[in-house]
Amino acid sequence: MNFKDVLSKIVKGKKLSYHEIDYVITNFTNDNINEEEMSKFIMEIYKKGLTFKETLYLTNSMIKSGEILDFSKINKTIVDKHSTGGVGDKITLIVAPIVATNGLGVAKMSGRSLGLTGGTIDKLESIEGYNVNLDKNEFINQVNNIGVSVISQTDKIAVADKKIYALRDKIGAVDSIPLIASSIMSKKIASGANIIIIDLKVGNGAFMKDIKSAKKLARTMIKIGKKWNKKVVVILTDMNAPLGKSVGNALEIKETIDFLNGTYQDKRLKTLSSTVAAYMISKGKKISINKAYTLAKETLENGTAYNKFEKWIHCQGGNLSELKDNAKTLEVFSDKDGYIDEINAEKIAIICNELGSGRSNKRTTIDYGVGIVLNKALYDKVKKDELLATIYYNETKEKERLVEQLKQSFKIIGIKPKEKNIIISIIS
Ligand code: URA
Repeated sequence: MNFKDVLSKIVKGKKLSYHEIDYVITNFTNDNINEEEMSKFIMEIYKKGLTFKETLYLTNSMIKSGEILDFSKINKTIVDKHSTGGVGDKITLIVAPIVATNGLGVAKMSGRSLGLTGGTIDKLESIEGYNVNLDKNEFINQVNNIGVSVISQTDKIAVADKKIYALRDKIGAVDSIPLIASSIMSKKIASGANIIIIDLKVGNGAFMKDIKSAKKLARTMIKIGKKWNKKVVVILTDMNAPLGKSVGNALEIKETIDFLNGTYQDKRLKTLSSTVAAYMISKGKKISINKAYTLAKETLENGTAYNKFEKWIHCQGGNLSELKDNAKTLEVFSDKDGYIDEINAEKIAIICNELGSGRSNKRTTIDYGVGIVLNKALYDKVKKDELLATIYYNETKEKERLVEQLKQSFKIIGIKPKEKNIIISIIS
C-alpha cells in the first residue's frame, strides 16, 4: 500500500477500508506522510464526507494511536462529560462536584483554551496552587477517596488527533461531521469512561451553527459510542449568548463558587448544569432521569456540592481564597432603554481573547485575571445609562474601542423578547 493509491481512491469517490485509513493515520502520526500530502487527504474528507463505516474506521485508528486509560482500580462508576467548547462554559466545574456527591466518579482529563473558547484547565490554574499534573496513582487515589479529580489531558491520548486537529485548523477544515465526530469520540473513548454526556453547542459562539448538522453529528457520535459499548447522550444547547455572567479564567472560578454556594443564580446556567448532571447521575446510577434531576437539585441546593468542590480543589493543592484575579476595571453602560435580546458570544470571546484570557493570535501565556462580567443577562430589562457589563483588563491602549465593541455585542430591543430554552434537544 502507498499513500498515492489511497489518495487516488478517495479522489475517485471509492470507499476506503480500515487498513487504508489506518495506513494514512499511522504514517501521518509517525511523520512518514507530510503535512502537504495529509492536507489533500483531509480536504477530500472535508469536501466529500465519509460513510459511517469509514468514520468509525477513522475513529478506531485514532484511538489506537495513543493510550486507552484503565479505570479498573477505581471503586466507583466513572461518568464523563464533554463540551464542544462554549464561551463562559464552567459546566464541568459545577457538575463534577454534584455528580461526585452522588457517589459516582469523575476522573476527568480536560483541555486548555482552544481558538476562541476557554479551557477548564486554564480556569483551574487561575487558583493559586492547583496542580493539574497529578500522576496516575494520585489521580486514581483521589477519585477513590473523594470521587473527583480533574487534571490536564496528557499528550498520550489519541495522539493522531492532536496532529490532525492542528492541520485541520491550519487549512480551514474544522467543520466537517466525520472529522469532528472522530476527533471527539477518539479522545472520549480513550479517556476510559463507559458513560459519556456530550454538551454540543449550537449557535454563533460555536463551530456548529445550525441544528440540523448538529443533530447529524450527535447521531454519528452516539453510533460510534455504541460500537465501543459506551452509553452516549448528546445534549444540544444554545450558544447564542455566553453561559452565565463571566467570561475569563479567575472570573469564572468566582462565578462557580458563588453559584455552588447559592449566593448567585442564573437560569440558563442552572438549567444546563442540572441537565448535564442529571444525565450523568441517571446513566451512572441506572435511575430515572426525574429521580436524577431531584438528586442533582438537592445536592446543589443543600450545599453538599459546594463542600465537595472545596474538598476537590483543596486535595489538588488549590487555595480558593487566592485567585490570580489581578485586573483593573472599565464599565460599559447602556445607550437606551429596552430588553436584552442577544449577547453575541463570539464577539464577547474575541474581546476576551484580545484582553489576554485565551491563546488565539499565537499567544503563549494567558492573563488569568482578565475578561468580562455581564451585569445584565439575556432577556433582562435595561434602562439608559444602566451598567451593562464590566471589562477586567491589565494592558490595553484602546479602552474606548473595547467599550464600543462590547456595547455592540448587546442587541437591545423595545419589546420583551420570547425566552428560548438553552436546551434545544436531547439525543441518546
Ligand atoms: N472538538 C474536538 O475535540 N474536535 C473537533 O474536531 C471539534 C471540537
